[in-house]
Amino acid sequence: VDYDYEKLANIINKESIGRGRHLIERYKWFLPVEDSDKAISLEEGDTPLIKCRRLGSVLGLENLYIKDETRNSFKDRAITVGITFALQRGYRKVITASTGNAAASLSAYSAKAGVDCLVLIPGEASISKLAQILLYGATIMQVRGTVDAALNLLRVAFEELGWYPIPTSTPFNPYQVEGNKTIAYEICQQNNWLPPDYVIFPVGGGDCIFANWKGFQELYKLGFIDRLPSIIGVQAAGCNPVVKAYREELEDIKPIKFAKTIASSILVSYPPTGLLALRAIRQSMGIALDVTDEEILSVDKNDYVVCVITGTGLKQTEAISSLLEKIKIIEPTAEALKKALYRLQ
Ligand SMILES: Cc1ncc(COP(=O)(O)O)c(C=O)c1O
Repeated sequence: VDYDYEKLANIINKESIGRGRHLIERYKWFLPVEDSDKAISLEEGDTPLIKCRRLGSVLGLENLYIKDETRNSFKDRAITVGITFALQRGYRKVITASTGNAAASLSAYSAKAGVDCLVLIPGEASISKLAQILLYGATIMQVRGTVDAALNLLRVAFEELGWYPIPTSTPFNPYQVEGNKTIAYEICQQNNWLPPDYVIFPVGGGDCIFANWKGFQELYKLGFIDRLPSIIGVQAAGCNPVVKAYREELEDIKPIKFAKTIASSILVSYPPTGLLALRAIRQSMGIALDVTDEEILSVDKNDYVVCVITGTGLKQTEAISSLLEKIKIIEPTAEALKKALYRLQ
């Protein structure tokens, strides 16, 4: 999706963007929405940028920040645009293929808009995500097979049955991903238009990192920031197709056979937007890493680094159940409390 940036430069400035009741109103010039008053919103975005002094000192970084996208799902940014766009085109039935977060978000926005929502879940999804989808009233169909198989059904549902596709996957819907890039806008605006040196994103399908590189480039084209950050993509070692392509200097993404990770939200063995993600990393002179890697970033200790955090243990409680073993059970006596505390020290 492209805009007339020369025209935009004449009608907006740093002060006029970022104000409004909801995300679409705040950034309407950069989004494919005709009438921002008709936006379907659940007050998405506007998440805090938090300086992490303690974590920064452990890592030797003086200017480490977290963009906290866990407070409302970062998927909401894409979905508010996707569903508003669908209604603008006259659709009243929407569909997605997702293992959880995007589907939970689409279900919530569909409930708000009063439209039918069908969720195709490839394989398995965590119960906390399924619960959200069901509580918002969407229909779930669990598809035996991979994400690719579910995405093929999505195409059939759109072409033959009129269900509008809003997976947060750029090749299947290039409009909704425009909402994602507002993370980049907020990061720059929140630090008085000082762009970070590095921005770190988790990479699953590749859309979030691709979209935000686009967002930073747009601000640069408009002269709102005077340089571009380097973009760092992080994947799980058990499912790292973009990292592999980056390391092996490939021009293609190769699917990972037998992909496995507890980070189920980024378990995408053949990411549809993987090539665009790879391009964002390369163009920005960034790097791609997987989490067990010992590669050390050539980040200077004074560099301004922003880490975009998208997941929480609460979205997938099964993954953190081993922590329950840490809970001590004690008798209701002062002596038992003291004894247990003594052992902890
Ligand atoms: C919690 C979480 N983090 C990161 C990602 C990865 O985003 P993307 O698929 O845009 O690369 C997802 C995507 O599903 C997600 O749900």
